[in-house]
Amino acid sequence: MRATINGRTVGYIERGSGIPCVLIHGYPLNRMIWRAQWEGLADVARVIALDLRGFGESDAVNAAAEISTFADDVRAFLVARGVRGRLVLGGLSMGGYVALAYLRQYPDQVAGLILANTKATADTLESKANRAKSIALAQASGADAIVKEMLPKLLAPQTYASNPALVARARRIMRRATVPGIVAALGAMRERPDSIPTLLKFERPTLIIAGAADQLMSAADAEKMKRAARDSALVTIPHAGHLTPMEQPEAFNRAVARFLRRVASQS
Ligand code: MLT
Repeated sequence: MRATINGRTVGYIERGSGIPCVLIHGYPLNRMIWRAQWEGLADVARVIALDLRGFGESDAVNAAAEISTFADDVRAFLVARGVRGRLVLGGLSMGGYVALAYLRQYPDQVAGLILANTKATADTLESKANRAKSIALAQASGADAIVKEMLPKLLAPQTYASNPALVARARRIMRRATVPGIVAALGAMRERPDSIPTLLKFERPTLIIAGAADQLMSAADAEKMKRAARDSALVTIPHAGHLTPMEQPEAFNRAVARFLRRVASQS
């Protein structure tokens, strides 16, 4: 589905009814990573997954963006869709950075937070230098070079051999990314602030999901978020890399469904 928000096309999908559960994808992906969630969780919540600017079906904007810009895009989209009350916000990796920015900007709306395969800390100097290299690579060689760079890091090592269909799907999803989208996202991630103080202030339920074989986010990253968020639970999913909602959808959905029921009963 598509909506026009502030003159720009935004790709999204919406399924089910109940408490809104807004899902934000990682880099350089799009809403299609959440297919098993809108199919499997529609009986528990109103599942909404949208494409960030420059990814999937959402228009790119040829301008530098901050992580707060992505959060404002999510807000503008939700207002346009009539989602005004309490919601559960979920993000994977970069989507988690955007969810934390949203929480900073619009704290009253967030009744529950799902942070999957992500971290709350800012980029290290080394990661900032790598962002600059990836920006140069995207600009010189296009989105396919980024797909090639990211694909070997996204899944659990065993998934590459055992599930070629999933590897092909992840590649297809990434190939929708645009160079302006990639460049804006890399710049926004590089400059994002530390979100630990945001989590320290958050008193509502937080579900942290980690992949036991995630090559990009460590167990220590997940533990730090767990310690910072007051009312938090950490679920580490075995046989999952960086894309737990795609690699282990049943285990992921079980944890999220339980969480959504709890938050819905409290709101
Ligand atoms: C993502 O999966 O969204 C990114 O790899 C996160 C990052 O690069 O920090």
